[in-house]
Order: sequence, then C-alpha cells, then structure tokens
Amino acid sequence: MTLVGKDIVSIRDLTKKEILEILNYAKKLIPFAKGEKRTHALDGKVLSTLFFEHSTRTRLSFETAMHRLGGDVVGFADPTATSLKKGESIADTIRMADAYSDVIVIRHSQEGTARLAAEFAESPVINAGDGAGRHPTQCLLDLFTILTEKKKIKGTNVVLLGDLKYGRTVHSLAYALALFGANLTFVSPESLRMPKETINDCIEQGVEPVSTVNLEKAIKNADVLYVTRIQKERFPDPAEYNRVAGAYRVDLELLKHAKEDLIIMHPLPRVTEIAPEVDKTPHALYFKQAFNGVPVRMALLSLILGGKV
Ligand code: CP
Repeated sequence: MTLVGKDIVSIRDLTKKEILEILNYAKKLIPFAKGEKRTHALDGKVLSTLFFEHSTRTRLSFETAMHRLGGDVVGFADPTATSLKKGESIADTIRMADAYSDVIVIRHSQEGTARLAAEFAESPVINAGDGAGRHPTQCLLDLFTILTEKKKIKGTNVVLLGDLKYGRTVHSLAYALALFGANLTFVSPESLRMPKETINDCIEQGVEPVSTVNLEKAIKNADVLYVTRIQKERFPDPAEYNRVAGAYRVDLELLKHAKEDLIIMHPLPRVTEIAPEVDKTPHALYFKQAFNGVPVRMALLSLILGGKV
C-alpha cells in the first residue's frame, strides 16, 4: 500500500487500512510534532497552502507539520493579495502552485473546489475544507483523538451536536465513525439536521444513527460529545441563523448528566456553544485535539511525499 502522490479530497479517498496506517504513524511522530526530536525527512520539498477562506488551525498546523518535517512552505491566507484580484482564474492560480511546489493544500468556500484543483494539478492536492462539503484531515485528527483517548472506536457512543447541515467536519466524521463501528447520535435543531446523504453513508456502513433535538437525554450515554459551531457564514438568510443561534450550550449544568469519562471535542473555532468554564474540566479535549492536527498532518504529508521519518 502506498499513499505517495495521492489526492486526499474526501475521507472516502482512504481505505480503513490506510486511515489506520496514518493514525499509527502519527502516534510515532508526536515527539517530532512537539519539537522534542528533529527530522529532515522532507528536506527540499515544498508545500503550497492556498487558503481562499479563513483558517487558524488547519493552515497553521499544516505549515507547522511541513516545517517539523524539514520542508518549506509557500502560499497565501488572503486571496485578495494575489493576482486573483487582477482577474486571474482559480485554475491558473492552482497551476502556478503546482509549478512551485510538491503538494497543495487548499481551502475554499465552494464545495467541490478541491476536487477541481486535483484535476488541474499534477502534484497531490489535500482538501483543507470546501464549503459545507468535506474536511478529511480534520476527520483524521478527530479519529486520532478518539482512538488515543478511548483506545477504540467500535461500540463507542458518539454524539455529534450542533450545525450538522452546514458543518463539514461532521459530514466526514460521521461516515468515518460508522466505518469503524461507532454508535452515532445526531443532535441538532430540526432545520440543521444531518443531510440524508450522510445518514445513508452511515447506514451503508451498517450503523443506523439516532437523530434527536434532546441534548440532555443524548449526553447521558455519550462517551464522546463532538460539538460544532452554528456556521453563520453559510446561511443564505440571516433570519434563519438568528432562529437557531445559541440553540445549544454545553456548560457545567449540562455536564451533571454526563458520564465521568465523557470527552468533549470541537473542531474549533467555538463561539458560545461551549461555556469557557468547561475548559478547566477533565472533559475538555478540544485544545489537545487541535494539537493533534500537527502529528496527523505530518504523517499524511510524509506518506504522500514519500519521505518517511
Ligand atoms: N478546525 C478547523 O478547520 O479550524 P480552522 O477553521 O481554524 O482551520
């Protein structure tokens, strides 16, 4: 099995075996991700980061991952500072990144842009989030976090909470959790329910998710609570956003109903859906989860570029 040169646009581009290989390798890379050990595995290789949409974690952790592997990074976080502003097409922008680098990481607000980029580029393309579509590397680091903390995914009770309609991280994650045999409960306002296509993805993997609006009930049996932000920027109608904003808030009162060893995850950024007081509890895993983006993305870049540590 080799991932050398492979595009990663969706988590479905990876088999279960490949996902496990990435996660096992990521575990070995933790001391390198923390800077405790040094490697030059990707010496001479260049990563392009093309961020057409805002990001803190995904871009910075990809860049950190490349630097920790001894490689270099070029790219932009503000497309208005590029020749797109002069009318250049996205296709030509991608062709340029292809000419200057060995692997391209792209984020865009339009679903399908990463797949399009993979068609224009000869170098491998990694989707760093496309609109309300997919976010496969977030999915990998989420799986890594659950496996590290719970030691298994099969039979683990996972509650996905919040904006399940527009939240791309939960679309990739629901499929992958079903692939690994987790029990799934989807909690959201009625108008932000998990898309049918994703529910069908889970059923195809042999997992029938439960959908509810009742968080207090769902949290009782949860081993993992995966919270998401209501994706304000993706609502076509601001009035619709105002109707659901603040629908759920995870706070100490709610956690009285939770198992002692519940872990709370969140892809971040959060706004009001997790009270800051929760950060100090042993349930809060979201900052560690965000760190896990570095070893996981190191593993992926290393395998795709063929420079093993
Ligand atoms: N989790 C995540 O995608 O965060 P950013 O939007 O900050 O990259």
